[in-house]
Amino acid sequence: MTRSQETGPATRETAPTSVELTPSGPRLSHGPPRRPDTADAVLVEPALVGVCRSDLKEIGGRRPGPSQFGHELVGVVTDSSTPLLPAGSRVCLDPNVPLDRGTGFARRMWAGGSPGALVRALPVAPAGTGERRLVFAEPLACAAHCLTMAGRHLRAGGLRGLRVCVLGAGMAGVLIARLAETAGAEVLIANRDADRLDFLRARDMLPSLGGARLGEADPGHDVVVVATSFVLPELLERALNLLRRDGLVMLYGGTAAGDRLPGLSCDLDRVRRAELVRETSWRGRPVRVGGSYGTTSEDFADALRVLADTPDGLGVERLITAEVSLPGLPDTLRRLASDRHLGKVLVRP
Ligand SMILES: NC(=O)c1ccc[n+]([C@@H]2O[C@H](COP(=O)([O-])OP(=O)(O)OC[C@H]3O[C@@H](n4cnc5c(N)ncnc54)[C@H](OP(=O)(O)O)[C@@H]3O)[C@@H](O)[C@H]2O)c1
Repeated sequence: MTRSQETGPATRETAPTSVELTPSGPRLSHGPPRRPDTADAVLVEPALVGVCRSDLKEIGGRRPGPSQFGHELVGVVTDSSTPLLPAGSRVCLDPNVPLDRGTGFARRMWAGGSPGALVRALPVAPAGTGERRLVFAEPLACAAHCLTMAGRHLRAGGLRGLRVCVLGAGMAGVLIARLAETAGAEVLIANRDADRLDFLRARDMLPSLGGARLGEADPGHDVVVVATSFVLPELLERALNLLRRDGLVMLYGGTAAGDRLPGLSCDLDRVRRAELVRETSWRGRPVRVGGSYGTTSEDFADALRVLADTPDGLGVERLITAEVSLPGLPDTLRRLASDRHLGKVLVRP
């Protein structure tokens, strides 16, 4: 490969080149991106990057595990050591494939690893689909994975004809709800605050059964997905009460080691992270509790197919509320981390 001058000593550029997460919060950086020491690496120029709830959790120090800061991206490969991913390829990023990479909140991002890992981590985007749609590939792949796992935990061929309730009308909840509808489920979305439901209604993004406040959803669902920021005890209790006998609660929102709900025999964090299913009981009725964590290459392929092939790509572009550039990003991230926010903020590096 032709090692670009970016592998040499760091030279300061006048315009910011990235936003790095430091112990004191997000900061502009002006240095060139670091090429990993791996034999194989590709350089990606992100065109658009979505701000994810997990970026904001990392800023708040509330997300354990390896950093995935700036991972919802679509961009173009501009330098590559492998013919499997040549320069000019338009790619998204699967952050669950381990790579040595910089943040995606950057004008350029090096990613290093074996050629196989690079190909898995940087799925090629279909031609002819716009970047404002493709930037949703990663969160949509997570949603697709959740529904695949729900089908598996239920030992069902799919979700067709099932009643699904999604708790939490944030970005994760709305993508899960929209995708469940395309799989033939009857879907209701429930949220604590009304403004988020109003936001979705105004953008024609509510599912077929509409939206309800948390306390207003009817019981009797086959599947209830907890897609709130965290799986809090009162939310899990509510989810269990909304289930039919033998129904399935999917743990999708954040959990932490040791999380348990009194009266439910289940290690919540382990079930979510290991994607297990527990057949247990709640208040004398049999229920199932299942987990969903991360994505697979098949989920990315499904998500990219949906974004490319459905007439309006599930309407994801209607969820976009702002586009910011790198210089304004640290302030924007700090604000988003401390305030409630509706819709998706994009970064155009
Ligand atoms: N399992 C996986 O693989 C996976 C993948 C991606 C994301 N996630 C998880 O999904 C979670 C949600 O992400 P997101 O992008 O949807 O976040 P988001 O857009 O910020 O939405 C957060 C949602 O949680 C609700 N909420 C927060 N605190 C609540 C409380 N105390 N009681 C009731 N509802 C509450 C909010 O309701 P209000 O409108 O009332 O504030 C909102 O609906 C993330 O935190 C992450 O842990 C999991």
